[in-house]
This record gives sequence, structure tokens and C-alpha cells, in this order.
Amino acid sequence: MKRFLVTGGTGFLGSILISELIFQGHSVLVLARSERKARQLLSKFNSDELQRICILKGDVTHVDLGQSFGFIDENKGYIDVVYHLAAMVKFDEELADELMKINLQGTKNTLKLSEKLGVKQFIQVSTAYTLGKELNGIEELYPENQVCHNPYELSKVYAEREVMSYKNKMKVNIVRPSIIVGDSKTGRADSNFAIYGFLRALSVFKKRALRDGFSKEFFRIIASAKGTSNLVPIDYVVKVLLAVHALGENEQIFHVTNPNPPTNQYILSRIKFLMKYDQLTITTDPLIGIHDLTIKERMLNELLWIYKPYLATDKSFDDSQTQCLLKNSEELQLDMDHKMIDLILASGIA
Ligand SMILES: NC(=O)c1ccc[n+]([C@@H]2O[C@H](COP(=O)([O-])OP(=O)(O)OC[C@H]3O[C@@H](n4cnc5c(N)ncnc54)[C@H](OP(=O)(O)O)[C@@H]3O)[C@@H](O)[C@H]2O)c1
Repeated sequence: MKRFLVTGGTGFLGSILISELIFQGHSVLVLARSERKARQLLSKFNSDELQRICILKGDVTHVDLGQSFGFIDENKGYIDVVYHLAAMVKFDEELADELMKINLQGTKNTLKLSEKLGVKQFIQVSTAYTLGKELNGIEELYPENQVCHNPYELSKVYAEREVMSYKNKMKVNIVRPSIIVGDSKTGRADSNFAIYGFLRALSVFKKRALRDGFSKEFFRIIASAKGTSNLVPIDYVVKVLLAVHALGENEQIFHVTNPNPPTNQYILSRIKFLMKYDQLTITTDPLIGIHDLTIKERMLNELLWIYKPYLATDKSFDDSQTQCLLKNSEELQLDMDHKMIDLILASGIA
């Protein structure tokens, strides 16, 4: 049995990671800033399991995450591994300061506390999109002046560099998932982010179209049809996170990405089918900008605008280190077939 500290444990990925750690017999300290969400998380476990979970009230933007000297003293040498997941997962330009505060300063604070506690391994959950405007992702640290699409990506680039600066103090690893979606077997996802935000925006638009009598009109979405949607099921991400703890070597970076991602065209065709909304098409004409669209098309594209960088290009990610890790832990590679994609999309539409 090992002792873990997990930040972001009340979130989409964190709650599934914690369930798996508890299932494997470990004990977990969960940093949580909201009592309501902490209670919600605890309600998933039985009384035996609850013996191995402890909620730590705190906030990553506070020094020592808001923990007292007494806590640090009592817990020195007690925690083996930190999984740092807490982050603001939003892309808006106007949230730049908050994104830096939570994602960068929050990581610095978590690293400092981990050092004070004598933690042996620090696993940072970053994003595959720290590759910014590059097209080919590598499992190496990106430069400080990486050109990014939004402040979220930039905050994660800086945070990764902070994590690596601790490589002589503890074992450090960076895990970079692409777009996390529901469970590969059930499709279930508790998220409003990325593809789920996209699906919600589409269904809001469809409802408006039905209400205002324009549901038969055709609409163009500006995206690259050949571009791909790099989706990864949450259970695969958790599997890699656990393998990184077991087998990761100091300074290693791991992409958790789909080596054969479906095209945007394919994803949209399945969304249209599952939503029973045939009036959507992808326009790939590079000359078409938002101003060339009809007012209603503009309304739809503006709802989806925030996802544009992820619809516009075909990015690829080298995940050799992850594949090597999975091979050594005798875990299977990701094989996201059409059935699995439908299951995941359908659960976001329902
Ligand atoms: N979802 C994806 O597609 C995706 C893809 C790649 C990487 N990631 C990364 O994976 C990690 C988890 O993402 P997620 O999808 O699970 O996000 P999420 O559901 O939004 O969860 C974020 C978690 O961070 C916590 N948090 C935020 N600010 C905090 C603060 N100041 N102090 C303490 N805790 C704070 C939240 O607490 P509250 O519950 O109180 O809000 C929540 O537990 C993030 O680092 C994200 O960047 C996600």
C-alpha cells in the first residue's frame, strides 16, 4: 500500500483516478477546496474504503496549499506520490491571469509543499496541447517561448518547466493527455469540457433552430475535415497514470494520445446521426471566415469558436514512451474503434 496526495480529485479525471487508487488498496489524501464536492466524492465509497481516504481542505493558489506547519510536520515522509491535477480547464483569453494563478502558481505551490513533505514522486497532469501551434508533439519539454493558441496551453507549458526544475529533488513525470472523453466501456463522462462543451453547444443550437422554425436550413461549421479529433477514454488515461507511478523514470514525459484519431469529418457525421441533425456540414474552404457566413451560421460557429484550434489542424503525437511503459506493465494499447466512439458521443448527447 502506498500513500498518495491528489489535487483536483473532485474533478472529472481526479475522481476516477482516486477510485482506482482506492480499488488497488492504496490510501489517498485529497486536496479539495469545496466541501460540497468533497462530500460528493466521498459518497462513492463504502465504509471500508473511506478508512483510506482523507479530505484535506485547501487551495493550490495558497502558500503550502493552505496547510499549517503542524500538518507539514506531522506528514513529513508520509506521502509517497503526488498526482497534481488541479487546474482551471478553460481557454478564454480574458481568464489569462486566473489561468496563470491556478495552473502555474498552483503548480509551484504544490511542488514546494511536496518538497517540504519529502515526497518521492511528483506526477504532473499536463496536456498534449502544450505543443501549441506545432504540428508534431514530442515527449520532451517544450521551450518557454512556445507559441500557443490560448493562455490555458501557455500556463501548462510554464507549469511543465517548473515541474522539471525539481528533477534533482524528487522523481518528476509529466503526463500529457489529449482530449479526455468518457469510459471506453460505458461511455460515461462527468464533464462539460471540450467535446462535451461542443456537443452541448450543438444541442443548444438545434433547440433554438426547432423553436425558431429554422431546423430545416443547412449550416456550415468552419473546421478542417481532414483534421483529426484526438480523443482518449478516461480509463485509458488513468491506466497510464498508474503505470507512470509504477514504472516511470525521472524526467520522463508521456503522451496519452490516440495514434489513429478519427477525422473531424467522421466525428461530425456520427454526431449528426446520433443527434438526428442532418443539416450540419463542415466547410474546409480556407477562404471562408466568420464574416462570410450567414448570421445564423455565425451564431453556431461563435458557440463553437473556442474549440477552433482543435478543429483546424491535423496534429500528431509521438507516444513511444507511453507505449513502452504499457508494454512493460503488460497493459493493452488504445484501440478506439467506431463502436467505442459512438458509445462515447452518445453519452455526451443524451
Ligand atoms: N478534460 C480534458 O480533456 C483534459 C485534457 C488534457 C489534460 N487535462 C488536465 O487534466 C487535469 C484534470 O482535468 P479535468 O478534466 O478533471 O478538470 P476538472 O473536472 O475541471 O477538474 C479540475 C479540478 O481542479 C480543481 N481545482 C481548480 N482550481 C483549484 C484550486 N485553486 N485549488 C484546488 N483545486 C482546484 C477543481 O476543484 P473544484 O471541484 O473545486 O472546481 C477540480 O477538482 C487538469 O490538469 C487538466 O489540465 C484535461
